Amino acid sequence: MGKNKNNLPIWNTRIKKNSTNLFKKIGGSLSIDKRLYKEDIEASTAHVEMLFKQKIINFKIKSKIIWGLNRIKNEIIKKKFIFNDKLEDIHMNIERRLFELIGEDAGYIHTARSRNDQVVTDFKIWLKKANKEIIKNIDSINKNILKKAEKNIETIMPGFTHLKNAQPVSFAHYLMAYLEMFNRDKKRFENNLDSINENPLGVAALTGTSFEIDRFYTTKKLGFKKPTKNSIDTVSDRDFVIDFLYSCSVCAVHISRIAEEFIIWNSDAFKLISLNDKIVTGSSIMPQKKNPDPLEYLRGKTGFVFGNLFSMLTTLKGLPLSYFKDLQDDKEIVFTSFDQLKNSLIILNDVFKNFSPNKKRMIELAEIGYITATDLADYMVRELKYPFRKAYLQTAKIINYAEKNKKQLSELSMKEINKIEKGLTSDVLKVFDLKRSVNSKVSYGGTSFENIKKMILSYKKK
Ligand code: ARG
Repeated sequence: MGKNKNNLPIWNTRIKKNSTNLFKKIGGSLSIDKRLYKEDIEASTAHVEMLFKQKIINFKIKSKIIWGLNRIKNEIIKKKFIFNDKLEDIHMNIERRLFELIGEDAGYIHTARSRNDQVVTDFKIWLKKANKEIIKNIDSINKNILKKAEKNIETIMPGFTHLKNAQPVSFAHYLMAYLEMFNRDKKRFENNLDSINENPLGVAALTGTSFEIDRFYTTKKLGFKKPTKNSIDTVSDRDFVIDFLYSCSVCAVHISRIAEEFIIWNSDAFKLISLNDKIVTGSSIMPQKKNPDPLEYLRGKTGFVFGNLFSMLTTLKGLPLSYFKDLQDDKEIVFTSFDQLKNSLIILNDVFKNFSPNKKRMIELAEIGYITATDLADYMVRELKYPFRKAYLQTAKIINYAEKNKKQLSELSMKEINKIEKGLTSDVLKVFDLKRSVNSKVSYGGTSFENIKKMILSYKKK
């Protein structure tokens, strides 16, 4: 390696010619996997300590290597490290610098390992942190959702199916639906943490090693639960990558659905919510405009995250075991999904902090579209002992009449109602009250104020 310090790859003893120009330029992964430098040094340190413990290297060599690795870490942190993209990746860059710092002894570091296990180890350590970081951001969104929900238990709005007015609902109940979505996301990221817990280090290129290494030792040092069980699978496996990308995709779906919903609610046609100036942008020609760009950004970026999941699945579908260059792309795919999702969660959180429901408009919209029709049918079942289908038909007749006469249900007189359904008394008029309707949904998980209060409380306790 002494002769080799100037830009030549480690394999230049066998491969005499440089790679073709373009491949040399774009075939490496340094610009992407630089990001793994901390994890790489952490894994190398554990590896070297294990080699010493197993008497494969002596104390002096171990100490020199660890000193060198720490120094390299500081150089990178202080931006003093000179990266060389001719050396393909972060692993080779660190190794090359170690030679510069401590000389030939640096060569002991790669005893009983390969870049194939090295890269998966680094990547798993990084992904553990990434999963935790996403979970933290989800928690923060959920906290804000809870806060908003608490303030809006009695805010009544139309609930929609097919985007047509369906039944009145508490706005808090709506918000708490988002919380359920994000809680499922959180669970997925937590499960990933569990499945990522097997240590790849020590399987070397693909078959293991002839050295008497202790994989349980590095497992403990690096915070894994157990070593992986099959060396070939270990260097080929990227299921943990797919798990992460899938979890990101589902979370992105949720973000996108919420964004789309808010775009609709914020439209001039709906006007159910108002967005604070912090989360709108203007138009270059129309002075009046306040556009919900951040929401559209969230909806738009979702496609990137899906695309990354499909890229990875496509890469893997044609790969026999074990390591192939194709796998190098896994980092870029994961890093962009992570960055995208994290940014989206932060932006969505800003949205939650900077919008307000237009309570008056919500009620106005809930007053139209015969939104208490189901309440009327339920009333007939209860008071007139009708089977639900008969009550449904009688209610439909009453609605037909109201529609023809351009009235809302609450505007009908008893005389008009009795023309269609004789059995009803003026007691029925109460069912047209929106608040009463919301509060009648007492079944578990329903929208009654009491239910919502209990849910909010139980989540706050958590
Ligand atoms: N740069 C490679 C990657 O990121 C490192 C693994 C290289 N292994 C090999 N056998 N070429 O995947």
